[in-house]
Amino acid sequence: MKIIVIYGTNSGGTYLAAQIISEALTGLGHQVTIKNATEADHHELQNYDLVVMGSNTWNFSKEEGLPHEEIRKFLNKISYNNVPLENKNFAVYGLGDSSYMYFCGSVDVLEKFLSERQVKLVIPSLRIDGFYFRQAENTEKIRQWTENLGKLGVVGELGEDG
Ligand SMILES: Cc1cc2nc3c(=O)[nH]c(=O)nc-3n(C[C@H](O)[C@H](O)[C@H](O)COP(=O)(O)O)c2cc1C
Repeated sequence: MKIIVIYGTNSGGTYLAAQIISEALTGLGHQVTIKNATEADHHELQNYDLVVMGSNTWNFSKEEGLPHEEIRKFLNKISYNNVPLENKNFAVYGLGDSSYMYFCGSVDVLEKFLSERQVKLVIPSLRIDGFYFRQAENTEKIRQWTENLGKLGVVGELGEDG
């Protein structure tokens, strides 16, 4: 499959997670592109069999539990341009910290945005708690999630070219 991983990060963890995901998917024979949300173009989504979106959770203007600003801008561009997403394959992952009130709130926001556009997630979303505090354990968790994600295409659930 052709896969794009679009991420938003402040301290780099969500980018490192994107790299782990990319390496694991590449190892399973997929063709993977990683893009920061700042450089991702909403028009190019149609070029991929699977879109993986990843965001940290932050607060902005006193509002807590939100996706990264660039991810929110990207979602706004999709809405503004009415980019059709129905029947597109998406997966979502988020980095957060369970000491905050809205743990991985970005995942909830992304899931809501996608479900409102009739997108079905191909796998339950991944929520990573305290990435840098338990990096080895979290890296393994990300790898396992990605293995499941990557295998979906192999058994033909996502498309024909696996
Ligand atoms: C100002 C601030 C606000 C945050 N708000 C939340 C939050 O509401 N929910 C959550 O789960 N994590 C929250 N976090 C934790 C970050 O999402 C977490 O540290 C994440 O791993 C950062 O990812 P990054 O390295 O990609 O930026 C917050 C962190 C900071 C510094």
